[in-house]
Amino acid sequence: MNSTEQTLSIIKPDAVVRNLENQIKEIFKNKGFKIIKEKKIQIEKSEAEKFYKVHETKPFYNDLCEYLSSGPIVVMVLEKENAILANRELMGATNPKEASEGTIRKLYGISIDKNSVHGSDSIENAKIEIEFFFKD
Ligand code: CMP
Repeated sequence: MNSTEQTLSIIKPDAVVRNLENQIKEIFKNKGFKIIKEKKIQIEKSEAEKFYKVHETKPFYNDLCEYLSSGPIVVMVLEKENAILANRELMGATNPKEASEGTIRKLYGISIDKNSVHGSDSIENAKIEIEFFFKD
């Protein structure tokens, strides 16, 4: 069933530092996403640890949290029909080496860590992640 959804998108430090923010936003807009909210911030490692808590038992957890807090990020609420799946398809596989042509990670991702963008993976997590960054 089609329904309008909101999802959280993050343009990660590797993309922000390479000035890819506007190109990535254009890709979202051209695919019909509305950017409902956005802000550029830098978070503390402790906040990254909270955000990525689902991964806390993974071997890459510490590096992941160091990395997300290493520089400015752009957090956005994107809206579109079936936004969560549409965003995941547009981002491509987590590992840019495995991402399909035309996806953001294929275009801009450097490595599995520096994969340029994050997107919520379920309706439930989208709500949690949007609340995390946009409480008001
Ligand atoms: P993201 O979609 O932001 O969610 C968790 C992140 O962990 C993921 O993107 C990757 O950048 C990072 N990561 C690092 N190593 C791995 C791994 N082996 N498997 C999955 N994600 C990883």
